[in-house]
Amino acid sequence: MQTTLKVDLGDRSYPIHIGAGLLERAELIVPHLAQKRVAVVTNTTVAPLYLERLTATLTAAGVAVHPIVLPDGEAYKNWETLNRIFDALLTWRAERKTTLIALGGGVIGDMTGFAAACYQRGVPFIQIPTTLLSQVDSSVGGKTGINHPLGKNMIGAFYQPKAVLADTDTLKTLPPRELSAGLAEVIKYGFIWDEAFLVWLEAHMEKLRALDAEAVTHAIYRSCEIKAQVVAQDEREGGLRAILNLGHTFGHAIETGMGYGNWLHGEAVGAGMVLAAQTSQRLGWIAEADVARARALIRAAGLPDAAPDMALEAWFDYMGHDKKVESGQLRFVLLKKLGEAVITGDVPKDVLTGVLAAR
Ligand code: NAD
Ligand code: GLY
Repeated sequence: MQTTLKVDLGDRSYPIHIGAGLLERAELIVPHLAQKRVAVVTNTTVAPLYLERLTATLTAAGVAVHPIVLPDGEAYKNWETLNRIFDALLTWRAERKTTLIALGGGVIGDMTGFAAACYQRGVPFIQIPTTLLSQVDSSVGGKTGINHPLGKNMIGAFYQPKAVLADTDTLKTLPPRELSAGLAEVIKYGFIWDEAFLVWLEAHMEKLRALDAEAVTHAIYRSCEIKAQVVAQDEREGGLRAILNLGHTFGHAIETGMGYGNWLHGEAVGAGMVLAAQTSQRLGWIAEADVARARALIRAAGLPDAAPDMALEAWFDYMGHDKKVESGQLRFVLLKKLGEAVITGDVPKDVLTGVLAAR
């Protein structure tokens, strides 16, 4: 089973292919290559699983493949590792028409995309995301970048891929905790955009966690479709695109407060979405029953539905580093109702304090 949808960005439009066995489908990749040479950027975890399969597919289609295998982990999403990509590209004499292929999760995708945006002022790149989170979120929409010691994803570029291939077979080797982290972003799309999708998720969460092929393909398709719609309207996050950050202001504070890697990004977003729902309830926008429903779905996905214990000053300090901060003012993505998000800077401090204290 394979489905395809399009991200509509004029002459920078591109297809997202979703389905099983896509690593074997050279015809989904080769038409996008300006030259039959590619550098495949991956990491030490994903390479032993999928690099050989992808290389065999491309080699059989007459494409020369140069692998670049990086260390695994968010801690390596930095200048030093980025420079290793440039070292390898220059040593191999990669040219302006050489395509970079990202084979891995969001860390590899974000770094490879940024390397492609910078190398020789821009070379083509293709995303082959291998985690659920990267298949439904990070590989789509063109946000690329690395972390700075003073802030996550603070250095980067908007740079769209030529194509995205989400091979659902790769999810079979994904640790269950990583699968749940990806489900947080899937649930996010329901909360911000589509109540009917939320209802569908409530009914299919068990199947999704068991990797039922039809359910997983639908969840990825609908998630990418919603993200593509938002990105097509606001590629560079002048406004609307910020709704994709539901739960992320609270979530980033949790990630920072708990130390990177202790809470996965998706886990922090899960707990963050509960806090966003509770804030929306205190503002009178959604009912207590909606918050209970949100919590139940987040729990059903195997995610924490409550934030960890942190001092109030720490919450506000960490939330103050959010990229949505404007003129020093915190801005939040909240819910007008389930299925409709709003971005607001107008949340009284006592409301936030109440939510965070009652956690
Ligand atoms: P990740 O890339 O660290 O992958 C998680 C772990 O799973 C890693 O150890 C990875 O090596 C391993 N892995 C990957 N594929 C596997 C597979 N098929 N089988 C077994 N193990 C596999 O994390 P992630 O959750 O994919 O992505 C998180 C990153 O994405 C963060 O850096 C975040 O900032 C970024 N992100 C970017 C955007 C965007 O729009 N660009 C959106 C959301 C998140
Ligand atoms: N992950 C949020 C965005 O792509 O805008």
